[in-house]
Amino acid sequence: MSAFSGGHGMMPQLGLVRRGATMPSDRLPRGLVRRVWVEFARPYRRRLALLLLAIGVGAAMTPLPALIVKHIVDALSQRSPDTARVVNVAAVGLIAVAAVTALVQLWERYLSAWIGEQLILDLRRAVFDHVQRMPLAFFTRTQTGALISRLNNDVIGAQRALTGTFGTLAQNGIRVVVVVGAMFVLSVSLTLLVLSVLPLFVVLAKGVGRRLQALTRESMQLNADMSTVMTERFNVAGALLVKLFGRPAEENRGFVERAERVADVGIRSAVVGRLFFTLLGLMGSVGIAVVYWVGSRLVLGGALSTGDVVAFGLLVTQAYAPLSALTNAPVEVLTALVSFDRVFEVLDLPHPIGDAEGAVRLVRPRGEVVFDRVSFAYPSAADSSLASLERGWSEVLDASPGATVLRDVSFVADAGQTVALVGPSGAGKSTICSLVPRLYDVSHGAVRIDGHDVRDLTLSSLAAAVGVVSQDPHLFHDTIRTNLRYARPGASDADVEAACRAAQIHDVIAALPDGYDTVVGERGYRLSGGEKQRLALARVLLKDPAVIVLDEATAHLDSESEVAVQRALATALARRTSLVIAHRLSTIARADQILVVAGGRVVQRGTHAELVRSPGLYAELYRTQFADASRPVDEASGAV
Ligand SMILES: Nc1ncnc2c1ncn2[C@@H]1O[C@H](COP(=O)(O)OP(=O)(O)O)[C@@H](O)[C@H]1O
Ligand SMILES: [Mg+2]
Repeated sequence: MSAFSGGHGMMPQLGLVRRGATMPSDRLPRGLVRRVWVEFARPYRRRLALLLLAIGVGAAMTPLPALIVKHIVDALSQRSPDTARVVNVAAVGLIAVAAVTALVQLWERYLSAWIGEQLILDLRRAVFDHVQRMPLAFFTRTQTGALISRLNNDVIGAQRALTGTFGTLAQNGIRVVVVVGAMFVLSVSLTLLVLSVLPLFVVLAKGVGRRLQALTRESMQLNADMSTVMTERFNVAGALLVKLFGRPAEENRGFVERAERVADVGIRSAVVGRLFFTLLGLMGSVGIAVVYWVGSRLVLGGALSTGDVVAFGLLVTQAYAPLSALTNAPVEVLTALVSFDRVFEVLDLPHPIGDAEGAVRLVRPRGEVVFDRVSFAYPSAADSSLASLERGWSEVLDASPGATVLRDVSFVADAGQTVALVGPSGAGKSTICSLVPRLYDVSHGAVRIDGHDVRDLTLSSLAAAVGVVSQDPHLFHDTIRTNLRYARPGASDADVEAACRAAQIHDVIAALPDGYDTVVGERGYRLSGGEKQRLALARVLLKDPAVIVLDEATAHLDSESEVAVQRALATALARRTSLVIAHRLSTIARADQILVVAGGRVVQRGTHAELVRSPGLYAELYRTQFADASRPVDEASGAV
């Protein structure tokens, strides 16, 4: 199963599906039930006890109507002077039993819904919080659909384990005991007769149950395939690809093929399911026929009363339903537990990038950034992800660490300085930038801010000290104002506007029909690349960090917005330490220090004036690559 299972809505059995063809019991860790109890169920033990009580009371009342009917029938067949009174009392009794049963069931439903929803809430909160704190490496590897499915399907599956399955099990267990007990009271020999067909019954239920499960699993797998096709094709990028390559007919064929298989499996499982219930019904009818036949003979022989036999027949029908539910219970319990297991799997992922023991807050940062002999390799798949959240369920993740991307990188950016990183694509510039806000941790060496190793700082104070504008900034699907305030929730409208003026984006926003209330992001208003970057700059200005890391975009800047971005940058970088991946000569020439990065090493360093004169990579890049190399350098730098 791949990308998207979230589109399924509530299908808790998905847990089973993703485990592949093996039965869930193969992989369930020991102590799972205990852990479920300790971590999630115990807080609700009082309500769970009440639920059990409600279920018990409800189930215990199951045989009562049959026993009351026995008295009516016996009274009618004896025709004693008492008969009328017995029948009256019995009628009232039947109504009373029904009323009490209804109330108890309502109470039981309320309790199980309450516990269930509370459990879903607890699990969701835990998973959301945990996933949020995972390092970036986790998100670069994980399939969003699979992750969302954990938050939806598995959480609901886990809840079903606790209230649904647990409830059904308790209910049916008690029912069987009470009903069979009542049967024994009425007639031991008849009860033994009924129970003698039980093995046959269990075998049938098990066999068909297994067949049904296999079909369900197959159908969910196929459904998942189908929805993967849809989600991949129906997002903007996918739809565009299909159109540009002119493949709608092939796409249709592929889709219909999958949809047909879904239909096929649907028919098969409907028939098998029906067959099962038909056979059960048939067996039940035969059983009742035998009971009446044997029972009537016992009545004629004087061993039983007419009422006994009638009541017994009623009880037999009441015993079959819980019995068949119980035969499938082990599979259901395991299926539900798999969901818990899958939720725990996520909750157990370590948080390698978190606050260290005794982490200190960085207060009033000056913004000195030091790289001290930093080497870095991206973490291996096994270190950063979960096999079941990647492509398939059976995959084993590669544990070999990635190639070393940075080697022995050292430099000092004094507070307030601008350091430009230049170099060919793939050299490691973005990687260097990602180490400052701890998107990743170094493999060797250290990154320091104001003398503190970033790993010794609290993540929140580090995040406050470092602002990042990436090449393709993300905006939430929300208004411009809300997006900007994400940087500083307390910012006033005036603050927001001031930041936008400084970032040279205010006029663009003010000209929009809804101004700052225009919805942007995912499916909102489309800003151009340059506008988006300036908005991201405004967002960072609002946060006002001591250190700015900037992946300067050039590709999508037209010349007008380039001028605007230049001015915005001048504001943004003033009075702050900045690390800029620069492509424009104007930015580079203005930098206090230029680091030329190639193959993960700093191969040259110095100012523009120094570097351009010495032979080497920089001089070469200067001649061939810098976007505005043909233009005279900004007079502000006075470098050339
Ligand atoms: N998330 C990642 N996982 C593994 N390798 C990566 C990742 N991101 C980048 N790389 C690799 O690291 C090297 C440096 O990439 P990057 O820092 O993005 O270069 P630059 O920004 O200089 O173009 C490249 O070889 C790239 O393939
Ligand atoms: Mg890059």
